[in-house]
Formats: sequence, structure tokens, C-alpha cells
Amino acid sequence: MTLGSGVEHVQLLIPAAGMGQRLGAGRPKALIDLAGQPLLVWTLSRFDALGLADGAVIVGPPESRAEMEQALTAAFSEYRFTWADGGSERQISVCNGLDALRPETEIVVIHDAARPFVPESAIRGSIEAAMEFGAATVAIPSTDTILVGDDDAFLVNTPDRARLWACQTPQTFRVSVIREAHAKASEEDHLGTDDATLVQRTGGRVKLVQGSPLNFKVTTREDLALAEQVIAGGLV
Ligand code: C5P
Repeated sequence: MTLGSGVEHVQLLIPAAGMGQRLGAGRPKALIDLAGQPLLVWTLSRFDALGLADGAVIVGPPESRAEMEQALTAAFSEYRFTWADGGSERQISVCNGLDALRPETEIVVIHDAARPFVPESAIRGSIEAAMEFGAATVAIPSTDTILVGDDDAFLVNTPDRARLWACQTPQTFRVSVIREAHAKASEEDHLGTDDATLVQRTGGRVKLVQGSPLNFKVTTREDLALAEQVIAGGLV
């Protein structure tokens, strides 16, 4: 299955340069084994099903380039990706990836290598919303009450849950919109943890698109064990 007609010049960008410190594996998180395949391969397979893996920009640690390229060649019959060197922070990695986009790319889909179970509906929904509004992020309405605490772990306030969403990826943008937001952030020395917020802080509108609890980010050993169970249980 591929994207419908009218959707052109879409390119995928995968930040995969994180070292997975919280997993304690001593190697890039994207290369961690999940049920016999590297995490990155699981993640890219979700997009391959939509014809979006071709030409994807993979942003990885420079020292792991050969290993990552080898893993991708083994999983996908040939190497069909573009490489960009990652940086010390996710925002720098994404910025490097934006520099590596094809000149004709109009819509960029930015998705964490560490989220292997993104549903097709979320990918499609984020692309449609970015085409309409210029910027979109996948997110899920919070089912938990979220507490704001102070430095000493005392409750400061409890925002209205009805307006709280947990941020996920893909975050999808018109290329001009996200390039401008990154340029502004770098000019102002602002370091954020996601790209949609960079657009919002410069006055851009960002549409929230329904994600899924299965689209969690593999961060800890517990997440990795959960991901193994998702696969073993046939949930994806
Ligand atoms: O660290 P965290 O899990 O939040 O990272 C989210 C995504 O960003 C991961 O796929 C990770 O590989 C990527 N990342 C990156 N460059 C960094 C840090 C994280 O590409 N310096």
C-alpha cells in the first residue's frame, strides 16, 4: 500500500543518533536487537509499507555509519537511504537531517527511530494535516492526571487533563516551515525536545493528530521488554 495521489515529494527523516544511555547497552539505541532485528529496521518497515522508506534520511552517529548501513542493507534488499551525521542533541541531529533532504521535498515526516510501532493511520494523518496546516504532530490525549512539581518534588499545580496530550512522532511539516523554526531556534540558542514546539514558539499553528499507546518510545529496559511482548503477542 502506498500514499494516495496528490501526495508528492514527501521524504522521511529518522533521527537515530541517540546512544540509548537509559538502556545501558553501550551502543546506538537504533541498533539494539528487538525480536531478532535492529530497532531501526522495525521502525523503517512501518514506513516501507507506505512506500516512504525509499530515500529516507537516516541521521546516525558518525562512528556507527558502517554498522547501520550494513544492518539496513541486510534488512532491505539494497541500501535506499541517505545518510546524515547526528549531533550531540536530537535538535542538532534533525537540523543536520533537514540539510540532507532532496531539493524537491515539500513535506518532511520526522519520526524517532525509537518508536517501532507507529500505526499507518498516524503517518497518513500527520501528512494530511501538514499539507493542510503546515505543521502537525502525532500525540495522544493524556489518560493520566499530570502533576507539575517543584525542584523538591512538591506539587505545584495540576493542569486540566482535558487539554493535555502526550507528544509522539511523526511530526510532519512543510519543509519551509520547519527550516524556519530551526533557524530561529538556533539564532536564539533555544534547545527543545521536539520539532513541533519549535514551530509553535515562533507563532506557527501545529495540528495534533491522534496517535496510539502502541507508538511508545523505547527508552528503558522495561520498554524494550514491552516491545518484545507487543511483537510476541501479535499486537502489531
Ligand atoms: O533520546 P530520545 O529517546 O528522546 O531520542 C528520540 C530520538 O531521537 C531517537 O530515535 C534518537 O536516536 C534520536 N536522537 C538523535 N540524536 C541525539 C539524540 C537522540 O538522533 N543526539
